[in-house]
Amino acid sequence: MIYFDHAATTPVSKDVLDAMNLYFSEKYGNPSSIYKIGQEAKSAVEKAREEIAGMLGANPREIIFTSGATEANNLALKGVAFYWSQILKTKPHIIISSIEHHSVLDTAEYLEKNFGFEVTKLGVSNEGIVNPKDLEKAIQENTAIVLVMYGNNEVGSIQPISELSEIIKKEKVKRENGGNEFPIVFHTDAVQAFQYLDCNVSDLGADMLSLTGHKFYGPKGVGLLYVKSGTKFLPQQQGGAQERRQRAGTENVPYIVGMAKAMNDARTENHKKEVEDLRDYLIEKITKEIPDVILTGPEVGEKRLPHIASFIFKKIEGESILINLDLLGIAASSGSACTSGSLASSHVLTAMGYDDLLAHGSIRFSLGKMNSKEEIDEMMKHLPQIVEKLRGMSPIK
Ligand SMILES: Cc1ncc(COP(=O)(O)O)c(C=O)c1O
Repeated sequence: MIYFDHAATTPVSKDVLDAMNLYFSEKYGNPSSIYKIGQEAKSAVEKAREEIAGMLGANPREIIFTSGATEANNLALKGVAFYWSQILKTKPHIIISSIEHHSVLDTAEYLEKNFGFEVTKLGVSNEGIVNPKDLEKAIQENTAIVLVMYGNNEVGSIQPISELSEIIKKEKVKRENGGNEFPIVFHTDAVQAFQYLDCNVSDLGADMLSLTGHKFYGPKGVGLLYVKSGTKFLPQQQGGAQERRQRAGTENVPYIVGMAKAMNDARTENHKKEVEDLRDYLIEKITKEIPDVILTGPEVGEKRLPHIASFIFKKIEGESILINLDLLGIAASSGSACTSGSLASSHVLTAMGYDDLLAHGSIRFSLGKMNSKEEIDEMMKHLPQIVEKLRGMSPIK
């Protein structure tokens, strides 16, 4: 099998699995129990927290473990919005980019529809990048939270996070000086970015940041929300004192250990350059060898995540290319994993200005540390013919 879908998920590496195994079997205690194996499990969770905090330039007390990034994004957005409506007794205004993952997009729409909270969606350029000036214009006196992802999961565009956070910092100063006591929070979803980009929270200027284990060779079902100390939000899950009362529920000890190990490995191994080279090789091959193809997202390499290259193949459905590739044992995706399987066109491509017809022809290849040029060459023995055959059958002329 040739696997080109690392933005959807990655295999758990052998070292990560080994690190996790001990906490399924021998050291299976509940971290809340006072006897030895309970306390051993607690130490493992706290060690993982410390290591992760170190990698993010955060304090361990600022890390909340969750079941993944969907939960972390929900917790950030609902937590801040409900803090405003329940504690500050004020309706919050929410700003998101129009290319966020569905765990942000749908949560914002849910809050808008069911609670009447106002939501502003920032547009993006044709390259899929937010313009900081648009954020400046969108901020209101009651803006509670701004969510802009670090790297987009469909087209790989990297957002100017530090520039955006500078605007939020200025707004904080303005509020302090102007007697507006309402806090404003800047959140970034760094799920696709952590593997390859610096995620130091001070450099980014983030008040909140979400991650998930399974995008960097860790397990699925575990993630985290970084919350800068002093940031006000309401916990969204009750029923236990875990995570300093911010997220109830028995800690997923083996998975937390596995996520910390995977993050450590990502930092020590550093496959950025080789994956970037593979991405550029793939882009060159596809755009040179197949006619009527559009590379979506940024042209310039530095504005693009190292592992993602997405294309629109004009006049055909992305899904039909996927099926043909799958028959050859090659895995890729159309848009994001969450939208593949549905025929709705990608909100990301639509926000970038592509019409529905073009957006339906999109395919995302996302590379990983185990991929090779030979695998790309192998796919390229078939892809041009697949595209030609499908175009021959296509009703769109
Ligand atoms: C950018 C981004 N945010 C959030 C998520 C959701 O993460 P999880 O699978 O941990 O819920 C994903 C997963 O596809 C993603 O790519």
